Amino acid sequence: MSIELDAPNLGDLEKEYLAKVIDSGFVSTFGPFVSEFEERFARYLNVQRAVSTQSGTAALHMALYEMGIGRGDEVIVPALTFVATAAPVMYVGAGPVFADVERDTWNIDPKEIEQCISPRTRAIIPVHLYGNPCNMDAIMKIAGKHRLAVIEDATESLGAIYKGRYTGTIGEMGCFSFNGNKTITTGGGGMIVGSREESLEHIKFLVNQARDESKGYYHPEIGFNYRMTNLEAALGMAQMERLDVFSGQKMRFSEIYREELGGIPDLSFQGQYEGAASSWWLTCVTFGERTDVPSLQKALRERGVPTRRIFMPVVEFPPFAAHSSAFRNSREIYERGLCLPSSTLNTEEDIFYVCKTIKELVS
Ligand SMILES: Cc1ncc(COP(=O)(O)O)c(C=O)c1O
Repeated sequence: MSIELDAPNLGDLEKEYLAKVIDSGFVSTFGPFVSEFEERFARYLNVQRAVSTQSGTAALHMALYEMGIGRGDEVIVPALTFVATAAPVMYVGAGPVFADVERDTWNIDPKEIEQCISPRTRAIIPVHLYGNPCNMDAIMKIAGKHRLAVIEDATESLGAIYKGRYTGTIGEMGCFSFNGNKTITTGGGGMIVGSREESLEHIKFLVNQARDESKGYYHPEIGFNYRMTNLEAALGMAQMERLDVFSGQKMRFSEIYREELGGIPDLSFQGQYEGAASSWWLTCVTFGERTDVPSLQKALRERGVPTRRIFMPVVEFPPFAAHSSAFRNSREIYERGLCLPSSTLNTEEDIFYVCKTIKELVS
C-alpha cells in the first residue's frame, strides 16, 4: 500500500448511495440527497440551516454577494491561504486587503487586521488554515468594534472546535469545501451556514438560477448555477456517516507526529490557541535553517513519502501583486514548511514510517 498525502477515503457505502442515485435517474438537482445532506450537516454543526453549493469557492462568493459587498468595498483576508479565499472578493468587485499571519499559528494576526481597517472595510475572512482554528475571540471583538462582517473560511476545518463551537459557526457566515482532498468529499462541493436563516434561504434561491419554482421558469433576480447535485450529495451523506471516524484518525496521526517528531530541534508544528482543537485536516510543520525544504521533499518522495508545500502567499500572484508588502511570516512559513501525509487511507504504521524517515533525514 502506498502512503497517501490527502487522498479521499471512498468505499462500499459511497458505492451503495451512488447506485441509488443512478437507479433513481435523479443525478442532477432533484432527488432527496441534497436536502438530506444539508440537514445532516446542519445537525452536525448544531446550526439551523446549511445550504449546499457547487464548491467552497462558490460558498465564499455567495456569502460576499448576499452581504451586498461590492465595488469600492474592502475585505481583509490573510496573505497565507489558498487563492480561493481571495478570488471571490474580486468576483464581487471588491478589493482584498491582505493581513500577515502569526508565525506560531499560521493564522491571520488580529493586530495586522487592525492595521488593515479603512473606512471602506466591510468584512474579514479568517481562514482556519489546515484545520487550525483562528483567534476568533479577538477577530469577533475587532469586527464588533468596527461593525464588520466575519465570513469564516472553514473550507479546511470541518470538525475543528474553538471554545466549544465548531469553526464556521462563529462568524456571520461560514463556508466549507468538499473537494476531493478534504476531510469529507463530494467530489467537488461546498456548504454555507450562517446565523441569519433569511439570508441562507436567499442563497438557496440564488444558487438555483434565482428560480421562483412556484411560477415555473421565472427568475426575478440574476442568479447563479452553483447547485450541488444529487450525485454529489449522495457521496456527502455516506461521508457524513464516516466523519467521526475520519476525524479520530486525523487526530491520532497528528498525535503520532508530535510524539515522534517533537524532539527534532529543526522542526516545529503549527501552534494552537487555548481552547482550540484543530481538525488536523493536514498536519504541517516548518523546518529551521539547517534543513533545505525542496531537497527534503525530494528525498522523502524517493522513500515513498508524499508531501506538499505550504500555500504560496496569495500576494505573490499577479492579480494581487499591487497589494504586496512585507508579509514576512507568510513568506517564511511558505518557504520553510511542508504538509505531511494525512489521508485517512493511511494506517498508523504508515505514519510511524513517515516519522522514521523524517528522523533519518532531519536533525
Ligand atoms: C482555504 C481554502 N479556501 C477555499 C477553498 C475552496 O474550496 P473549493 O475547492 O471547494 O472551491 C479551499 C479548498 O480548496 C481552501 O483550502
